Amino acid sequence: MPGLLLLLLLLGTGAHGFPAPPETQGQDLELVQKYLENFYNLKNDGTSSRSQKHRNQMVDKLKQMQQFFGLKVTGWPDAATQKAMKQPRCGVPDVAAFGRTQGTPWWDHTNLTYRIKTYTPDLPRADVDQAIEKAFQLWSNVTPLTFTKVFEGEADIMISFVWGDHGDNSPFYESSLILAHAFSPGQGLGGDVHFDEKERWTKDYRNYNLYRVAAHEVGHSLGLSHSSDLGALMFPSYSYSDDPLLFQVDIDAIQDIYGPSENPVQPTGPQTPRACDSKLTFDTVMKYRGELYFVKDRFSIRTHPYNPQNDLIFISDFWPHLPSGLEAAYEVPERDEILFFKGSKYWAARGNDMLYEYPRDIYSSFGFPDTVKKIDAAVHEEETGKTYFFVGDKYWRYDENRQAMDADYPKKIVDSFPGIGEKVDAVFKNEGFFYFFHGKIQYEFDPKTERVLSLLNANSWFLC
Ligand SMILES: *[C@@H]1O[C@H](CO)[C@@H](O)[C@H](O)[C@H]1NC(C)=O
Ligand SMILES: [Zn+2]
Ligand SMILES: [Zn+2]
Repeated sequence: MPGLLLLLLLLGTGAHGFPAPPETQGQDLELVQKYLENFYNLKNDGTSSRSQKHRNQMVDKLKQMQQFFGLKVTGWPDAATQKAMKQPRCGVPDVAAFGRTQGTPWWDHTNLTYRIKTYTPDLPRADVDQAIEKAFQLWSNVTPLTFTKVFEGEADIMISFVWGDHGDNSPFYESSLILAHAFSPGQGLGGDVHFDEKERWTKDYRNYNLYRVAAHEVGHSLGLSHSSDLGALMFPSYSYSDDPLLFQVDIDAIQDIYGPSENPVQPTGPQTPRACDSKLTFDTVMKYRGELYFVKDRFSIRTHPYNPQNDLIFISDFWPHLPSGLEAAYEVPERDEILFFKGSKYWAARGNDMLYEYPRDIYSSFGFPDTVKKIDAAVHEEETGKTYFFVGDKYWRYDENRQAMDADYPKKIVDSFPGIGEKVDAVFKNEGFFYFFHGKIQYEFDPKTERVLSLLNANSWFLC
């Protein structure tokens, strides 16, 4: 019985816990209601919004949504749920099962055609052509499907940029967070892709990257629904990636319908890291503003030294300019800066803001010899102002105050950090101890006694 009341109370407090102005309550409730109607088939018959039945339905749908997004299943529109609901996304509902199920429509021929019916003024035509072509290529690489562009008449997949109500009963509202939608295979509208023209379309990290959105929508054109795997291209929310990829779940799902490509070497895709997978390894680990970030490909699992959690995020949600596959990162708390390394380049940020003219190169800035092609791991020591760089079986020590390498470096890792092996993937410092990572093993190292205190699993900082 107290369902709606509690709902309203919860909606009244914003994400930061302080009471929101009264009109926000209505807006947020409307947001939740609309979201569930649009993407989870919540029925809206106008008058019944106060009935018990409607409330129960809403709680059910909320739970379904929370499950899909990997949130805590509470049945209440808590802050995390509302945040997820405010993410820009695809207009196709999340209710259909992912992969081939009974009734999944699919194309009965493999030589498909597409036509770009209208263009966006946001980009030169050649850029639109290229984004769309690349989007199709992602899918033709892993299936027997071919896509031929045609310039007139009716193609299997008609692509257009449209405004507002565009005659398919799925208008793009002014305030909506829907970027695009697409229809599953079939005649007429079947297979067609519509991009919302009110968005700005780009070919870089700025919102919204056309190639990224097109690659997702083509998945629908071929018969796929949404995946609840955060890394999947078929996950409903938008996230930027410098190189959109089919994840293995996407490849498995499309091959389930059309079979593998004729390519002798079957392409494979990455998998979303699972915090509690004991085989998990990391590209780099960093501590920033008290939180720990365990970086893997374009993901990071964020946790806290004293409050373990497994918060899976995209690096690009925080720092959209950064490439994926970072190799090292460290924080300089004295300057409130974080530095990221990949190959011989590095970037710096404060909070979410990138700094200065980046990327820069590690040779002129730090004085590395040109035999160093990449940094394996880096960590800064607040007490001394020194930063340690690990490269192969050696390490360098850099003085952040003098902005120069200390003399007599590099040294051998084994001489100063005995017991941690000859190569380091990642390192961070916490409460006076170093935590070195190599493969799925983590070494807790005491610099005072120069001894390894314990061997841990690489994922020991998560809640597993
Ligand atoms: C696709 O292949 C079928 C069978 O070979 C053929 O009849 C059809 O004309 C082809 N369509 C296109 C668009 O090439
Ligand atoms: Zn979608
Ligand atoms: Zn449409």
